[in-house]
Order: sequence, then C-alpha cells, then structure tokens
Amino acid sequence: MSKKKLIAGNWKMNGSLAANQTLVQALVQGLREPDCDVVVCPPAVYLQQVQQLLAGQTAIGLGAQDVSQHDNGAFTGDASAAMLKDFGVRYAIVGHSERRQHQGETDVHVAIKVKRALAAGITPIVCVGETLREREEGMTEFIVKRQLSAVIHLNGHCISEIVVAYEPVWAIGTGKTATPEQAQAVHAVLRAQLKAATDQADRVRILYGGSMNATNAAELLRQPDIDGGLIGGAALKAPDFLTIVAAAA
Ligand code: 13P
Repeated sequence: MSKKKLIAGNWKMNGSLAANQTLVQALVQGLREPDCDVVVCPPAVYLQQVQQLLAGQTAIGLGAQDVSQHDNGAFTGDASAAMLKDFGVRYAIVGHSERRQHQGETDVHVAIKVKRALAAGITPIVCVGETLREREEGMTEFIVKRQLSAVIHLNGHCISEIVVAYEPVWAIGTGKTATPEQAQAVHAVLRAQLKAATDQADRVRILYGGSMNATNAAELLRQPDIDGGLIGGAALKAPDFLTIVAAAA
C-alpha cells in the first residue's frame, strides 16, 4: 500500500493572530518537502489569516474544524462548505467528539456534513470513537461501526474520498494514548467495514487521534492500518508537530 500518510493538526479553540503567525512560520520553515501530507486546522475566524501565511508553499494544506450541514440561509453561526472553499480549505474535520458531546451532533448530522464537504471538493476527516464507559462495557466496535455506517449509508458512492479518524474519547487531551495494539485493532475493524462498502478501501486513510505526541507517534504510525494522525495539543508546539511529521515521512 503506497499511500502517503496524513498528519493533521487540530488547533481546537486555541490561538491568536500573534500565536498563529509564530506557529505557522515555524512550521513552514521546518517543513521543506515532507514525504507525507500535512494539514493545519485553525479556528474558523483565523482561516483567512492562516491561508495568507501558507501562501506560496505547498507543504502544508488548510483545514477547517467543522462544516455546516446546510448550503446557505438562516443558520446563525454556521459556515458552509462553499464559504470554506473560498478560503482555500481542502480538509474539514467532521463529527469531532467534542462537537458530538457539546453541540449535540448526531451520526445523521455528521453524515450530512460529510456529504456537503464532498460536494464542495473538501475532504472530510470523519471522527469516530468510543467513551471510556463504552470501552469498559465492551462496546467499542459497536460504537465506531455505528458512527461510520451512518456516513457510509449516505455517502457510499464516494466513500473512498473520505479520511477517517479514530479518536477514542478517553484518550483525547488526557495524556492516555491507546496502545498501538489497541488502536490497530480498531483501525482494522474500520478498514474491514470500508472494504465491505468499496473496493477502494485501501486508499482511505485512517488516522489515529488522542494524545499522540512526539514520543509515541512513531510506534503508532508503524501499525499497518494507521495512516496518519489527528493531533490536538502537540499541534500547538511547532517542534512537537514537526517531530510527528518526521515520524510519518
Ligand atoms: P489531543 O492530541 O490533545 O489528545 O487531541 C486529540 C484530538 O482531539 C484531535 O482532534
């Protein structure tokens, strides 16, 4: 399988004009021609700033943290896929567990958002993952398959165009990483589910996210079905993010 790995930084609700400039400049300087795809996902209000900071280089692409499930109209606070496209956005995180938890996003919302992104030519990074309680109850496989199956159901014909991110909720921002074996086991389940939906499943990149850092990235990225990372905290520190990118290249 010769697909490039993808390392995506999810800045979440962090940053400022000054901090973004320092971070992006350090990344651009540190990354010449990485042998993997690299994306940064700033808060929506900073997309234009980061687009400008990334102008003139091709090593780092721009991503959004969400996309509206609607095309346009009376949806206060939303940003549509077409609007994101106006700012050079190539990827959009969809269905992050923080949005499922705090914004009440359901599997159906997530599936529609994926459809909107794909229709606009934006690659959705579809997040799935179980809570600690669900893992302890032995429901991990059931939960991630349910989350992905809603997306496959609505987007089956172009499902090979998505990126999937397995982010166990108990590993996000906690410093508790899934072991490479735990992560690989879930990635294999997701790969098998994609294989049942498309003969192009091997093209789909399945990222791991959840306390991935400069120290543990290499081992996680060595697993056969781990095709990259969705990085939170460590994406805010240029040296750490660059180390993770180097581990993926
Ligand atoms: P952390 O890397 O901070 O655990 O966050 C992971 C994440 O949620 C990325 O989307």
